Amino acid sequence: MAPSVLIIGGSGAVGRPLVDEFLKQKAKFQRIAVLADPAKVSRFADAQAKGVEIVVGSFLDAKSYAGFDVVVSLAGNAAMKLQPGMIEAAIAGGVRHFYPSEYGGDISVGEFWKNRYFRDKVVTRDHLAAKAKEHPDFRYTLLMTGPFTEYAVSSFNGIDFEKHTVEPYGEPGAKLSVTAMPDVMRYIVGSILIPFDSGKNVREFRVPGEARITWEKLMQYLGDVQGAQYKLTYLDPQGAALKQEEARKDGNEDEEVFWAGKSVMLNGSGLIPEPLDNGKFPFTPETAKETIQRLFGAI
Ligand SMILES: NC(=O)c1ccc[n+]([C@@H]2O[C@H](COP(=O)([O-])OP(=O)(O)OC[C@H]3O[C@@H](n4cnc5c(N)ncnc54)[C@H](OP(=O)(O)O)[C@@H]3O)[C@@H](O)[C@H]2O)c1
Repeated sequence: MAPSVLIIGGSGAVGRPLVDEFLKQKAKFQRIAVLADPAKVSRFADAQAKGVEIVVGSFLDAKSYAGFDVVVSLAGNAAMKLQPGMIEAAIAGGVRHFYPSEYGGDISVGEFWKNRYFRDKVVTRDHLAAKAKEHPDFRYTLLMTGPFTEYAVSSFNGIDFEKHTVEPYGEPGAKLSVTAMPDVMRYIVGSILIPFDSGKNVREFRVPGEARITWEKLMQYLGDVQGAQYKLTYLDPQGAALKQEEARKDGNEDEEVFWAGKSVMLNGSGLIPEPLDNGKFPFTPETAKETIQRLFGAI
């Protein structure tokens, strides 16, 4: 039977394009709904007019989840730590398939799970594993894309699009995987339609659009599109680590996570390890070069 899906965080940076992608594939789902805080229902008016249901309530209340098969969480950094509570409520409400807010690197590789930036994702994975042991019919999906190309090639990573300079934290030659946001949305929606292997509680999709690229190459593509040559100056990640620690001591969690995030782009955590799962989906993702041409071609 076609699944009924509830989206948490549907108003966020990933949530909005994801809702649009669900609408494109609406016929394949029984119900598509977003969970909305009572004070913020109006922001979903457009989606509602196109056929998305609005469930008004709290993500910590089991009643919000009644009648849904799959929950897709798009909690942002601020709400990430609340996911164990969401998972408890979702299970109590009858949900048996959960997508935690991942959509980045494979945080289980090496020591990346110790990075502050990933802390709440790690806690969520641990919680899901524990719940799957308690409830043999509860399943979850981890979907990993590496950094979104749109986020990698941005001022957050020290790019000055006017002066054609870039100052990222990290080492030259570091490899990363990147995926265009429209393809991330297609992977998330498409994965829900792939049947879960029987006898398993967890599955992982590693689906980077461009599996392996260097920062130098990304900046070369950007420069080519702009008719410029980027000057790269790598910053010592220790500088970001010190600012992260200062923020932690000041009790400024947003700043702490911000600085933790600054050094993850080139520390290897965004490189998705093989084997990859792109072949399980019926489309060819955009390359990094194509995405950069699409995004910056008109500049
Ligand atoms: N790989 C990448 O490059 C990349 C890039 C971006 C995002 N991501 C991942 O994608 C996921 C979603 O990120 P995002 O950028 O879409 O996040 P976001 O824009 O911050 O959106 C977060 C959503 O969660 C809701 N939310 C936040 N705090 C809340 C709270 N306390 N209670 C209830 N709802 C709350 C927000 O609703 P309100 O507006 O009502 O607060 C919003 O709908 C994350 O896992 C993130 O790491 C990955």
